[in-house]
Amino acid sequence: MSVIVVVGAQWGDEGKGKVIDFLSQQAHMVVRHQGGNNAGHTVVVDDREFKLHLVPSGILYPETRCVIANGVVIDPKVLLTEIAYLRQRGVDVERLRISSKAHVVMPYHTRMDALNEERRGENKIGTTLRGIGPAYMDKAARVGIRVGDLLHPEEFHRRLEVVLEEKNHILSRAYGVEPFSLEEMYREFVGYGQDLAQYVADASLMINEAIDGGERVLFEGAQGTMLDIDHGTYPFVTSSHPSAGGAAIGAGVGPTKINHVYGVAKAYTTRVGDGPFPTELSDSIGSDIRERGHEYGTTTGRPRRVGWLDAVVLRYAVRVNGLAGLALTRLDVLDGLDSLKIATAYESEGGVTQQFPDTDGELRAVQPVYETLPGWKEPIGAIRKREDLPQAARRYLDRIEEVVGVPVVLVSVGRERSNTIPLREMF
Ligand code: IMP
Repeated sequence: MSVIVVVGAQWGDEGKGKVIDFLSQQAHMVVRHQGGNNAGHTVVVDDREFKLHLVPSGILYPETRCVIANGVVIDPKVLLTEIAYLRQRGVDVERLRISSKAHVVMPYHTRMDALNEERRGENKIGTTLRGIGPAYMDKAARVGIRVGDLLHPEEFHRRLEVVLEEKNHILSRAYGVEPFSLEEMYREFVGYGQDLAQYVADASLMINEAIDGGERVLFEGAQGTMLDIDHGTYPFVTSSHPSAGGAAIGAGVGPTKINHVYGVAKAYTTRVGDGPFPTELSDSIGSDIRERGHEYGTTTGRPRRVGWLDAVVLRYAVRVNGLAGLALTRLDVLDGLDSLKIATAYESEGGVTQQFPDTDGELRAVQPVYETLPGWKEPIGAIRKREDLPQAARRYLDRIEEVVGVPVVLVSVGRERSNTIPLREMF
């Protein structure tokens, strides 16, 4: 039996899609347990690019079962479009199951996400505008609509009537925008319920049966540790738990059933959206890395902010997730640089600290303490063994292991499945 959780160790966009796709070839089941279509996973298979937002990347392997569990918030229109897109491209989607307990992203959520961001002005979070925050707010406020509700039209009508009255009140009174029509929304979402019905299941039961039956189960995290609503750079975070603990709650499995947790980190750092970012580069090296790494959001197309690798962030990710190792992606993007930097500590008026600051104020006051390492000139995309990497690249990996304190278990050197250097068994 082996159950592993793979999480983002930075601010999302670490290349989890590629790593999860690589690991999915060994998995019987792949589970998405948090987030929504704010996520964007790009997977390249034999030159064909697949962009996924809700369906687990495991769907690209014909034998792997995929589950969207209760902790995910689902925009049904987006999910149905993604299912149709996969079908059109010859991918069998019959192996997909969706938790009846997953909450639904409703049109008033996306509308409010945009209105809230507009109202915040300079203090905006820089959300993906996919309605994620408002959907999780309603879940916590106990006024959410769940996937299972869409399958029971009468009950759904009753619930929607109550919720929509309140939402329309806010939309028209507080924001002065058009209210939604109850009957139109009801018909639209009952339609989605009919289209999704064949996929709806008791996800927690399925996942637990798979684990108890000795199957290899992979939990696919979305976003990253630093965007976790509790452990991230609040308030510039998402509204779910991308850190490893989110897998247990978001899928209905006991934490004791999880064997290992791995973090995915880029060989440098990126962040999309607002909020503190100590190692951010605002010079030509940053824009160079952005262009070479095509650092533009999969979901929104926004340019990503780019910076040096931050070992303080990674040690924090090791701590809050209990990471057993790091999968390091995009090492090839650093080809050709004269030198590389790693932030090994932070410095502020209070002195030098090895720990990630506990408060936003402290974080904003720090300067990274850098260590400089030599770069390498030769392209590394075709390399498949650690020992064949240029000496400077090996030194970079060695140093990351030393300063972060966990082994690098996999290195990705390109977009294709084959551009991967597996270093340790992860399942
Ligand atoms: P939200 O999740 O749309 O509410 O956005 C909140 C913050 O999380 C913003 O800074 C987004 O840019 C960021 N975010 C959300 N999803 C992702 C992701 O999949 N990758 C990277 N950043 C994300």
